[in-house]
Amino acid sequence: MKERDKNIENSKKDSSADSLESASPLSGPLRGEKICVIGAGFVGTVTASGFARFGHEVVCVEKDDKRLSLLRSGRIPFYERDLEQLVKTEMSGGRLMFESDLEKGIEGVKAVFLTVGTPSSNGGRADLTALQEIISFLSKKMKPGQILVIKSTVPVGTANMIKKYFSENGNRADIEVVNNPEFLREGNAVYDFFNPHRIVIGGNSTGAIETISHIYKMGMTRPVPIFTTNNETAEMIKYASNVYLATKVGFVNELARLCDRVGVNTMEVARVIGADPRIGQEFLNPGPGWGGSCLPKDLREFIGLGDSLGVSLHIPRAVSEANLRQFEHVYRKVKSLAGDIKGARIGVLGLTFKANTSDLRESPAIPILTRLIENGAEVIAYDPAADGEVIDLLPGIHRVDDPYETAVGSDCMLILTEWSDFQLLDWGRISETMKNKNIVDARNILAPELLKRYGFNYASIGQN
Ligand code: UGA
Repeated sequence: MKERDKNIENSKKDSSADSLESASPLSGPLRGEKICVIGAGFVGTVTASGFARFGHEVVCVEKDDKRLSLLRSGRIPFYERDLEQLVKTEMSGGRLMFESDLEKGIEGVKAVFLTVGTPSSNGGRADLTALQEIISFLSKKMKPGQILVIKSTVPVGTANMIKKYFSENGNRADIEVVNNPEFLREGNAVYDFFNPHRIVIGGNSTGAIETISHIYKMGMTRPVPIFTTNNETAEMIKYASNVYLATKVGFVNELARLCDRVGVNTMEVARVIGADPRIGQEFLNPGPGWGGSCLPKDLREFIGLGDSLGVSLHIPRAVSEANLRQFEHVYRKVKSLAGDIKGARIGVLGLTFKANTSDLRESPAIPILTRLIENGAEVIAYDPAADGEVIDLLPGIHRVDDPYETAVGSDCMLILTEWSDFQLLDWGRISETMKNKNIVDARNILAPELLKRYGFNYASIGQN
């Protein structure tokens, strides 16, 4: 047998626990389970209400009083498309409830889904403080046979650490620990929950894996691949996905910088290279840089894990650095059109890290606008959903409630988020109120020809 074939054979043996099954809707009747979801952030709320829609009885536990009372009254504390309707329907159907008491929440449930945040710590590694606090509580309160399902993105090895903790603290080896990473995009999370590309379940108990598979199968209306594997592989799958996505966007952003120089349209190149299924069409839109609450922190943890093990990860490191350059690239585009930044008035459309979310976490708007403000620009910004922290994160900006106001007397418009509403603005009217008709469309959402007709100097990312 050739060496390569031997390796493939061996790797098949090593991963003999791994399997792929199709989560087609089952023919026989399935019983709804009692489930607890810990954390009512966007992942927790979508997961809890989604499982309720599947027919399960779900308690979602949230410790923040303000958030809890909003949710109990059927309102969502952040912007997530279709979620309010889903939560309202499931609450009124009696399958979903919100609870503050964790002990009550886990009473009599089959599975406890953990969705608490794992933000970056100062050193860049994932901060597991919130998770550890809950684990310590659960080790005392969970009952034998209950399954702990980790949905939060956790460093490779976390589930095994939890298992060890459970056995060493109170002899709780009777609790199964399973990983079930989420692949929900903010802004599309409800859609993604009901239309997953795949479901990943990691663990070493066949019974626990089967129970979690059934929880999903109950609601699936079409076949979805379910990958079952061990805990650490499931943990790695989540990081590898997000790091790869950042790499893909990072690549197209660099391609755009080169295309700008040689006068080639990146969008056209992306469309054609994406027609090759090995590359794929998605995540090839150049922009102001990737951000959000997931990709940046997961990249840092991934790099940190490599460093801690003496594995230097050159590609993710370069992707991170290239992203900082992309922010700088957008700043320079504004500068080249507006001229002197000191004293320039810049009208900004979009602050969130992408459209259809109110989330500002690690939004490219923060470094780009901070740089403009530090260099003396006056920044007037509009965003249809950005949450209240705008002023904390960007103390120097002047936020307005009307997109047209950003243009009045401005030297340059800057589009940072791809909200579709911006395409529908009356760009003729905007041009008339500006002092100088410059625009940097950092999301390539406008039609260059139209803008040029209105007399704009138009700059985009990789279409010039
Ligand atoms: C990401 C993953 O896509 C989800 O699968 C994952 O579940 C989630 O993280 C998570 O770990 O919870 P999300 O953070 O909502 O989801 O954002 P993405 O849609 O992945 O976008 C990330 C960034 O890349 C945004 O700043 C976006 O504007 C940018 N991007 C994306 C581009 O600039 N161009 C593209 O073509 C695509």
